[in-house]
Amino acid sequence: MIRSIEWAGDRVRFIDQTKLPTEEMYIETDRPSVLAEAITSLKIRGAPALGVAAAYGLVLGLQHSKAEGWEKLTKSFEETASMLQSTRPTAVNLSWAIERMRARLRQIHQSWGLVSANQSECNSPRDIVGCLLDEAKAIHREDEEMCAAIGRYGNDLVPQRAAILTHCNTGALATGGEGTAQAIITTAAAQGKNISVYADETRPLLQGARLTAWELQKQRIAVTLITDNAAAFVMKRKKIDLVVVGADRIAANGDTANKIGTYNVAIIAKEHGIPFYVAAPTSTIDVSLLHGEMIPIEERQANEVTEGFGTRSAPYGVNVFNPAFDITPGGLITAIVTERGVLRPPYAVSISETMKGALLKTSLGKDV
Ligand code: MRU
Repeated sequence: MIRSIEWAGDRVRFIDQTKLPTEEMYIETDRPSVLAEAITSLKIRGAPALGVAAAYGLVLGLQHSKAEGWEKLTKSFEETASMLQSTRPTAVNLSWAIERMRARLRQIHQSWGLVSANQSECNSPRDIVGCLLDEAKAIHREDEEMCAAIGRYGNDLVPQRAAILTHCNTGALATGGEGTAQAIITTAAAQGKNISVYADETRPLLQGARLTAWELQKQRIAVTLITDNAAAFVMKRKKIDLVVVGADRIAANGDTANKIGTYNVAIIAKEHGIPFYVAAPTSTIDVSLLHGEMIPIEERQANEVTEGFGTRSAPYGVNVFNPAFDITPGGLITAIVTERGVLRPPYAVSISETMKGALLKTSLGKDV
C-alpha cells in the first residue's frame, strides 16, 4: 500500500500527487508553510489525508517555534493553524484535525502543574512537541483503522461479481490508510470477488485518470477509464452494479459534498436504478451543518479549466466557473458507509444516532 504521507523523524514525507502517474516523487519538509502550499496545490489531497497533513503541520510549526510560555506557544500554534485552515475550505477533516490538536494542547495546558509534579512528559516546550506528535500519529493510525473498517462494512454491499463505478480518487493517496470508497473495492477484490471498476476521469484535474487508475493498476484490479460524460452510457450498456464515491463533508441530513461531478453521477445512477453509496469516516460528518447548502464550496482557478496540464483549450478572456466540489442531496444516496457501520435513510436520524456520544476525543479518550 502506498503511504501518501508519513512522519519521518523530524519532518513530513509525502508523495507529490501532481506528478502522478508519470513520476513517483516524494517531498520531505520540516516547514509548515511548505505543507500548506502542498495542500493548496493538491500535492497532498483527499479529505482524510488533509486531516493527517494538518495534524503533522501543527507539529512542524511548534517544532520550529522559539516561543516559550503558554501564551506564546498557543499563539504560535494558532498562527500555524490559521495558515493550514485557509488552504482548502470544503473537506471538514482538515478543521476536525486542527480542532482535535487544539483540544490536546488545551489538555496539556490544564494538566501542566500536575504533570510537572509527576515528572511526567509534557512539562517543557520540547515535550509538548512530542505530545502533539503522538496525537498527530494517533489521528493517522485511527484513519488507517477507519479505512479498514469502511472496507469491511462496504464489502457486505458488494455482490460476488460486480462492476463498480467510482468518481475522483478515494484510495491510499487520499487517506492515511487504504482508502474509503476504494477500500471497499480493494477489500471485495481481496475476498476473491470478481470486481471490475469504471473510473471517471474526473475533470478538470483528472484525479480518476491520474490517481485512481494508477492505484488500481498497481493493485491488479481491473480498471477501465471513462470520460465523465460517458458515465450514463456506461451505466446503460455495461450494467454497472453499484456506484461508490468518497466525501469531503457530510451534513447532518446526509447531503454530501464530494468532487465536482459526483452529483451528476448520483442523478444518473438513480435514473438507471443503480445503488449509489458514499463511503467516509465519521470525521467527515459535520453535524453542525443542517444541510448541504451550508457546506462551503471551494472555487479554484480558471486556468485549471482553460489550460489544464499546460495545454490551452479555451479562448483567452472567457469566463470560467470552477467549483471543486458539488453537493449530492441525501435523497440520492442509498447508504453511507462509515467505520461505525452502514447508515441508511433517513440520515437525519441515522447520522444523529451514529454521532451521539461521538464527541471529538483526543487520544487520551477524553471528550473536548
Ligand atoms: O480536490 P480533491 O482531489 O482533494 O478531492 C477529493 C475528493 O473529492 C475525494 O472524493 C474525497 O476527498 C474523499 S477522499 C477519501
